Amino acid sequence: GKIAVLMGGNSAEREVSLNSGRAVFNALQSVGADVQAIDIQGHAIAQLTEADFDVAFIALHGRGGEDGTIQGVLEWLNKPYTGSGVMASALAMDKWRTKLVWQAAGLNTPKAVLLDQNCDWQKVIADLNFNAIVKPAREGSSIGMRRVHSADELRQSFEYAVQFDAMVLAEAWVSGGEFTVAIVNGEALPAIQLKTSHEFYDYEAKYAADDTQYLLPCGLSPEKERELQAQALKAFELLDCRGWGRIDVMQDQGSGEFWLLEANTSPGMTDHSLVPMAARAMGIGFAELVVTLLHEARS
Ligand code: DAL
Ligand code: MG
Repeated sequence: GKIAVLMGGNSAEREVSLNSGRAVFNALQSVGADVQAIDIQGHAIAQLTEADFDVAFIALHGRGGEDGTIQGVLEWLNKPYTGSGVMASALAMDKWRTKLVWQAAGLNTPKAVLLDQNCDWQKVIADLNFNAIVKPAREGSSIGMRRVHSADELRQSFEYAVQFDAMVLAEAWVSGGEFTVAIVNGEALPAIQLKTSHEFYDYEAKYAADDTQYLLPCGLSPEKERELQAQALKAFELLDCRGWGRIDVMQDQGSGEFWLLEANTSPGMTDHSLVPMAARAMGIGFAELVVTLLHEARS
């Protein structure tokens, strides 16, 4: 059938999405698919109603594309789309409520506090052992995030993050390795460890720095990697995620325990992105991955 690659959009991750969308579009063209690219701008409902397609590949990132809203439009239009449904997309977009669900189920996720103008900054930073990371609750690609170690830094980082989202959280920092686990069609792929010279795996380290290292194999013992994969899969399923996604995790360097950070329901899909990297380690090429994800598209 006719495939529409939905990309771009208006979120802060627009540029990343254009790169994901172009890579997906090119891959589908290379295998002879009937494919069109749609930059979701302005009136998405009108755009999608007028377009002639049978199935949508969602390559949008962030709010307006990864948060259940575009998924809802596609539900109304009865068009199958890749990835998670409305509820899981909305939930996973919200790092705070994702945490509440994981905590309720007894999964490990770092302690966090919601911030607002009237916080007791000193108390919050003390409760987080003077080592935290401040995040807009509904952003992607580490946009708006900063490490903090004092009440002053906490307040300043709140002021910065709140420009990106009215909901801002401070999360206890876990010292250790950062890992990510791709999930494709119900299975956890090999984990990747991210090594950066930056304070954390921030926007620059993700898309610009040339010294970011991707360890695959990830450096864990086979037993420990299986534990990580199982935890990631459970985290994915608890949010009712579907099709594919990516779970980001820190490993405490002392205890070796894993701490869940977040779920991404529409992860980066450039040919140097993490999910394609993990798929390649399983012998699945980029175009094959795209086609596989489309096969699992639902409405
Ligand atoms: N939010 C970016 C696109 C990712 O998770 O890959
Ligand atoms: Mg994310």
